[in-house]
Amino acid sequence: MTDVFGLSHKDPSSGGDTNPAQPVRHEEVVFCSDERSGLYAIIAIYSTALGPGLGGTRFYPYESEQAALADVLNLSRAMAYKNALAGLDLGGAKAVIIGDPSADKSEALLRAYGRFVQSLGGRYYTACDVGTYSEDMDVVARECSYVTGRTQAHGGAGDSSILTAFGVFQGMRAAADHAYGASSLRGKRVGVEGVGKVGHRLVDHLIEDGAEVVVCDVDEQAVARVRQRHPAVETVSDAAALAASDIDVYAPCALGGALDDETVPRLKAKIVCGGANNQLAHPGVEKQLAERGVLYAPDYVVNSGGVIQVADEIEGFDMGRARARAAKIFDTTLRIFRSAEEEGVPPAVAADRLAERRMSEIGRLRGIWLRR
Ligand SMILES: NC(=O)c1ccc[n+]([C@@H]2O[C@H](COP(=O)([O-])OP(=O)(O)OC[C@H]3O[C@@H](n4cnc5c(N)ncnc54)[C@H](O)[C@@H]3O)[C@@H](O)[C@H]2O)c1
Repeated sequence: MTDVFGLSHKDPSSGGDTNPAQPVRHEEVVFCSDERSGLYAIIAIYSTALGPGLGGTRFYPYESEQAALADVLNLSRAMAYKNALAGLDLGGAKAVIIGDPSADKSEALLRAYGRFVQSLGGRYYTACDVGTYSEDMDVVARECSYVTGRTQAHGGAGDSSILTAFGVFQGMRAAADHAYGASSLRGKRVGVEGVGKVGHRLVDHLIEDGAEVVVCDVDEQAVARVRQRHPAVETVSDAAALAASDIDVYAPCALGGALDDETVPRLKAKIVCGGANNQLAHPGVEKQLAERGVLYAPDYVVNSGGVIQVADEIEGFDMGRARARAAKIFDTTLRIFRSAEEEGVPPAVAADRLAERRMSEIGRLRGIWLRR
C-alpha cells in the first residue's frame, strides 16, 4: 500500500515545481465496507483548502484493491485542481466502489454507501462518474445530504454533459482568440473524436458558430445521430485518421490518453481542446505539443462545466447561474495561455500553477480567526 500512496505524490505535470504550500498527502482516505450489500468503497479527500471536497463516485470492477486505491488517489487530486480553477469554493475528493455496476449495483449497496458519505459530515460531496447515474444519486441521497448530480425531478442538475460541452466550447473560443485573434470557430475545421454525451453537444455549438465539423466514433449510432441533426458533418473512420486529417482544431471527447507519442507527431491541428479527461498519455506530452507549436487547452480546465453544473445544486440548482459560471471558462483558459507565455512553460504547467496558487492564497484565509 505504501507504494500506492507514494506514487500519487509525484507531480506529473508541473515538472517538480509543486507549490510547497500544497498538501503532499491526501487529507483523508476512508475504506467503507458493508458485507451484506456487497459494498466495498474507498473515499479519498485530497484537499479541503477551498471547501468540502466534491468529486464523483466511480463504480468499476477494479482488478485489485491496490488498483482502486491508486485510481481514487489520482482522481481526487485531479478534482482539487479542477475545482480550484473552476472558481468553486470546493476542494478535491473522489470515491470508487469496487464491483461491476451491471451486476452488483443495488438499492441496499447505494444506500449503505450513502450512509458512509453522510458519516463524513459534509467533508465530501459525491456526484456521478463512470458507472453511476443521476438515478443512483437519488438513491444515495435517501441516506445522505451531501449528494449532487441528482435527477431534475429530485431538484438535481441532471445531465452534466450540457455544461461540460458548453465549457469546452468556451475553452475552444479562447484558444481561437489566442491563436488567430478572433474568438469564433467560423470557417475553422474542427475534428471531434467521440460524439457521445459531450461530443455531440459540442458539435451543436460548433455548427451554430459556423465551423466545419468532422467526427469519428466507434459507435455507428452515435455518428448517425450527429449526421441526422447536421447532415453537413463529415466523418472519418477512426481516431488515428482524424488526428492526421487536415483540421485546425482537434477535440478529444472519447477516452483518456488521446495525446500520445504516436498521435502528437501526426497532428495537423494547431489547437487541441476537448472534453475527455486525462488527454495527455504521460508526463512530457505537454512539452511535445508546445515544441510542435500546438496550443493545448488543459483538459481539466475546459471540461469543468460539468462539475460547475452539479456544484450549483449545493446552493439549490439554477441553470442560468451555473451557465454564467461555466461561461467564465473562456477567461480562465485565456489567462492560462497568457501566463504560460509569460512564464515560458506549457499551458498544462501554467494551469497547475494557477490552481495551486488559488488553493494556497484562498485556503490560507481560514487562518484568520472568526468566532463560530
Ligand atoms: N459527461 C460529463 O459531464 C463529463 C465531464 C467531464 C469530463 N468528461 C469526459 O469526457 C469524455 C466523454 O464523456 P461522455 O460523457 O461524452 O461519455 P460517452 O460515453 O457518452 O461518450 C464517449 C463516446 O466516445 C466514443 N468512443 C469510445 N472510444 C472511442 C474511440 N477509440 N474512438 C472514437 N470514439 C470513441 C464512444 O462510443 C462514445 O460515443 C470522457 O473522457 C469523460 O470522462 C465528461
